[in-house]
Amino acid sequence: MAGTAHAAGTLGAAAASSGRYFGAAVAASHLGESAYASTFDTEFNAVTPENEMKWDATEPSRGSFSFGSADQIVSNAQAHGMKIRGHTLVWHSQLPSWVGNLSASDLQSAMDNHITQVMTHFKGKIYAWDVVNEAFADGASGQHRSSPFQDKLGNGFIEHAFRTARSVDPDAKLCYNDYNIENWTDAKTQGVYNMVKDFKSRGVPIDCVGFQSHFGSSGPPAGFATTLANFASLGVDVQLTELDIAQAPASAYTSTVQACLSVARCTGITVWGVTDKYSWRSGDTPLLFDGNYGKKAAYTAVLNALNAGGATTPPTTPPTSPPTTPPTTPPTTPPPTSGPVCAASYAVTNSWAGGYQIEVTVKSTGTAALSAWTVLWNQPADQTVSQMWNAVQGTNGSLTTAHNTSYNGSVAPGASTTFGYLANSADAPASTLPMSCTIS
Ligand code: G3I
Repeated sequence: MAGTAHAAGTLGAAAASSGRYFGAAVAASHLGESAYASTFDTEFNAVTPENEMKWDATEPSRGSFSFGSADQIVSNAQAHGMKIRGHTLVWHSQLPSWVGNLSASDLQSAMDNHITQVMTHFKGKIYAWDVVNEAFADGASGQHRSSPFQDKLGNGFIEHAFRTARSVDPDAKLCYNDYNIENWTDAKTQGVYNMVKDFKSRGVPIDCVGFQSHFGSSGPPAGFATTLANFASLGVDVQLTELDIAQAPASAYTSTVQACLSVARCTGITVWGVTDKYSWRSGDTPLLFDGNYGKKAAYTAVLNALNAGGATTPPTTPPTSPPTTPPTTPPTTPPPTSGPVCAASYAVTNSWAGGYQIEVTVKSTGTAALSAWTVLWNQPADQTVSQMWNAVQGTNGSLTTAHNTSYNGSVAPGASTTFGYLANSADAPASTLPMSCTIS
């Protein structure tokens, strides 16, 4: 913890103290530079190849695959026990010209083949893939941007890519990754949010959303933590995937790290480069190490923020035994009533020997919006709640309570929000656990 003798001395170890990773984008061509390699290997516990897994590097001409420099990064990461983010399978940029010249049906099979070949090559080694990168337009439209994929295959190309990716490597987490989606009210953020919500509601396989986080010198938007929490409440992990901040102000880095730490499902942070010397925006000196690999003030700020910890990540993989089928409560929704009214229902989203994970949905069932809510239930005495996210745990007599946080008390009529918790238990979770909801 911060300020104690137990504070970790590297970025990776400090992030690991709350179950997260702290990674960097690297270029294979710099790994032979000893200061670069030693700084990277010592400080970070995750990696994203900066360019080496992109389409122009892996399939420069049709059907001809080359993985040499990506393999170099993967081997180095494996030798140091690092997580690897795969970046990226389907992106309009760094796309060889032959792809853009294909007919629609040819493009579809080329895209399927590219995903299949690249994911198969790295199967078992990748923690998370950026399956689709930057598919939404900037500005006010909130729509997909024009690209060969969008223009020839239509909106469905994203869903198709995710379904294909899942079928190739069911163990890798599948992410959508984009920039300028950090501010909650932006049309682009809303467009991506609605896509993820739609995917989750229809069972399209998506596990995570990457927020690139290329910031100006003022750092993240004020509501960044809210954005992360809102996406996480859809049932996906969130990650900061390409963080860099112009001039690297320590305070801006601190607030960025704290935004991630405040959300249990924010599983890690990656900075987009090791040293200012090789940053894609080196003129902005946006990283944690200067051109001589000296630690900048931002480095110390990040280390301290990580050591201070935050909401702990819930386990995403049960330690033992396969997940049981989530039981759901019978419908408890009351008929529409005037004024604010809420109802709560829950599902078991994960269970293992020794515990389980619950997701609770709080629905606004009246004619007016909720401004606050509290869910109450009788938690079995031998099944203690060990962690809660997107709600504040309390008690009311013998009942366990969960009260909204500052960012999810407002729920429009007909809308819902979710929170989750983990319980330690030797028993299976209760198949029916009556929950009540009040509007205060
Ligand atoms: O490797 C060639 C080299 O042989 C050639 O001599 C040189 C001449 O220009 O170019 C080199 O390739 C460059 C490559 O980086 C490797 O350095 C490309 O021109 C250059 O365009 C490429 O830039 C990359 C950029 O993506 C391309 O879009 C950056 O390194 C990389 O940091 C950046 O990363 C992206 C993420 O993938 C997605 N999000 C935004 C982020 C920043 O733009």
